[in-house]
Amino acid sequence: MKDRQPVYVRGLGAYLPEKILTNADLEKIVDTSDEWITSRTGIKERRIAADDQYTSDLSAEAAKRALADGGLAAGDVDAIIVATVTPDMPFPSTAAFVQKKIGAHTCPCMGIEAGCSGVPYGCELASALLRQGPYRNILAISADKLTAITDWQDRLTCVLFGDGAAAFLLTCDAEGARGEILDIYIANDSSGVDALYLPGGGSRAPATEETVRNRLHFLKMNGQEVYKEAVKSMGQAVATILERNNLVPDQIKFFSPHQANLRIIDAMARQINVPLERFLTVLQWTGNNSSPSVGIALDDAVRAGRLQHGDLVVLVSFGAGLTSGTVLLRWIG
Ligand SMILES: CC(C)(COP(=O)(O)OP(=O)(O)OC[C@H]1O[C@@H](n2cnc3c(N)ncnc32)[C@H](O)[C@@H]1OP(=O)(O)O)[C@@H](O)C(=O)NCCC(=O)NCCS
Repeated sequence: MKDRQPVYVRGLGAYLPEKILTNADLEKIVDTSDEWITSRTGIKERRIAADDQYTSDLSAEAAKRALADGGLAAGDVDAIIVATVTPDMPFPSTAAFVQKKIGAHTCPCMGIEAGCSGVPYGCELASALLRQGPYRNILAISADKLTAITDWQDRLTCVLFGDGAAAFLLTCDAEGARGEILDIYIANDSSGVDALYLPGGGSRAPATEETVRNRLHFLKMNGQEVYKEAVKSMGQAVATILERNNLVPDQIKFFSPHQANLRIIDAMARQINVPLERFLTVLQWTGNNSSPSVGIALDDAVRAGRLQHGDLVVLVSFGAGLTSGTVLLRWIG
């Protein structure tokens, strides 16, 4: 917002694991078809992390790319935030593993659980810390290895998800900035808290033979409720951020929506009367990789040279909680 100290994106990094799982591969695992998956979701393939590749590994790769992009070293990082629903383990924080893997100094490390809205939540926390000081450079990472909590016997969910990471290197220093964060809006509507959840492994249902037998350590989802709420809450989040910045959709060069489902994105585009071409999509080859998805789509557009100096971009997320959030960004170059 205009009366607050500006926060800048100094570097941006994304990482997708190498292994590809296609719809044809899924046809061999569950009773589904490429036609069903493509027509219902738009997804053709997704990236799957290796067995020995954890959320911290995905995060560290994205973080190294963001540091290289911003021309800074790991030693310049003053705090690390990792937003994830698939931490390496309940504790210590995944950010602590990232610190070790990238070779950062003893900076504070912390985590956020915001479902697929990791980017707006992470950027909001990082921005608050940067404004408060004494931090200069903060890595706000969003990463998930969703395939670790995917039930490969549940055809409704297993066709949707993939793995990946995105890192935003944020600073209050205008020099060398690639983008300026103009505003962030985040929210949570707990009326949908049971639409998308992982029942087992927490304090409510600690792991037992029974929780394993009942498949409680896998993600559960009410697909239709999530679909409806996604369209509604992402539409509201976009309207809120545009309204409070006196903007109309036509002034936004690109929207980078949560990469859950092409039909959700299409419904949103129609709701705000913006052509689908102005919505960045990568889900066709990434699937829904949860918290990093809006950052991965943004990174893809940046690497493809689709953003020009001065372009406005809105990142809009939605996820378990039910969280939602937007980041309004002015691209610098
Ligand atoms: C999951 C989703 C694609 C399902 O689409 P849908 O149109 O709601 O499908 P339904 O649940 O009504 O199921 C329709 C039929 O397809 C079947 N089906 C479900 N998954 C299938 C699959 N992978 N392959 C083939 N058929 C499938 C169902 O069993 C059902 O069959 P029936 O009519 O014989 O009972 C859709 O609800 C969705 O995208 N929801 C949002 C999910 C999401 O984004 N989650 C993450 C948010 S962060």
